[in-house]
Amino acid sequence: MDAPASPPDVEVLRPHAEQQFAGELAALRATDDRPRPANWLLSPWAVVTYLLGGTVGEHLITPKYVGSRRLIEVAVATIATDRALLLLGVPGTAKSWVSEHLSAAISGSSTLLIQGTAGTAEETIRYGWNYARLLAEGPTEGALVPSPIMTAMRTGAIARVEELTRIPSDVQDALITVLSEKSLPVPELGTEVQARPGFNVIATANDRDRGVNELSAALRRRFNTVVLPLPAGVEEEVRIVAGRVADLGGSLDLPSATDAVAEIRRVVTVFRELRTGATEDGRTSLKVPSGSLSTAEAISVVIGGLALAAHFGDGILRAADVAGGIVGAVVKDPVADRIAWTEYLEAAVRPREEWRDFYRACREVTG
Ligand SMILES: Nc1ncnc2c1ncn2[C@@H]1O[C@H](COP(=O)(O)OP(=O)(O)OP(=O)(O)O)[C@@H](O)[C@H]1O
Ligand SMILES: [Mg+2]
Repeated sequence: MDAPASPPDVEVLRPHAEQQFAGELAALRATDDRPRPANWLLSPWAVVTYLLGGTVGEHLITPKYVGSRRLIEVAVATIATDRALLLLGVPGTAKSWVSEHLSAAISGSSTLLIQGTAGTAEETIRYGWNYARLLAEGPTEGALVPSPIMTAMRTGAIARVEELTRIPSDVQDALITVLSEKSLPVPELGTEVQARPGFNVIATANDRDRGVNELSAALRRRFNTVVLPLPAGVEEEVRIVAGRVADLGGSLDLPSATDAVAEIRRVVTVFRELRTGATEDGRTSLKVPSGSLSTAEAISVVIGGLALAAHFGDGILRAADVAGGIVGAVVKDPVADRIAWTEYLEAAVRPREEWRDFYRACREVTG
């Protein structure tokens, strides 16, 4: 396997995990003396440390995933077996994020990726042809366009399949041979590609989508499923949002989020209360809006607020900067969600003495 990718030469908007964290990956690699599965860049133990954070020697490894260690251990252990990994969960629970970091840590590359859609065809999973060359040369190795899965099989790397259950079932089934026989036949050339050790698949699926039921039983048996939960408590969720906001804000040149924690806590509280249908003290029950109100959306609301504060305010994140974003996230359906939101404002927000500014700001944008 090649060494992990180095940072890109020119500035890019979003470096891949293996580029952004090349330093951490190199530090882990340098000190990792535990056994590694064939073609893995790191031992399973070091992969878990990369995801959850820690220190190796003098090097600080930042936590990428905040949550249960056991869950990540199960995910990593699965990839070391001959079973593929399915990360399942409601929107915004870091399924894609974890999948990207796992493949970056294990194979040094997170880019062998298939984005599943209703239009994903079998060639996307198996291989296609360069038609100009196919016409000129006939079916040859040179005319074949390998899929990310085929490339991963050849190199012994991890391939990622995003939103597996959006792919039509008959197309999904192209994965069965790959996962059980570890082979991809190419009848046109009379050959096959046999997977090298280290090859595996990490798929993600959203259990709110119409969906996971459409995963055929035959395919489901080839996967171990790990369910990524919503953050357990307010503090954990605040930590996730603050961490990601600091990271994203830095790359967007936004003001530092350190003095924004109080406002972040408020956004997270609103999201959690509406998601669960009850205020934090459990005294008032609330209508649950239709949107997912995920951690990922809370991150977007805060980033949007910071941009407002930076460009049109005094650089400090205030209630008025996040109010618009919150209303946008909550009111997806103009009738039912608006009712839920207005009731929430009156029943839960208004009575809170120290939330006056927030109530006023929300009222202003709600109309
Ligand atoms: N437990 C967590 N630890 C760290 N980051 C998290 C956690 N939960 C959510 N996030 C953050 O939320 C953002 C969204 O995550 P991601 O896009 O991976 O979600 P997803 O589960 O793939 O959602 P979708 O189903 O919509 O595709 C990421 O920036 C990630 O950092
Ligand atoms: Mg995703």
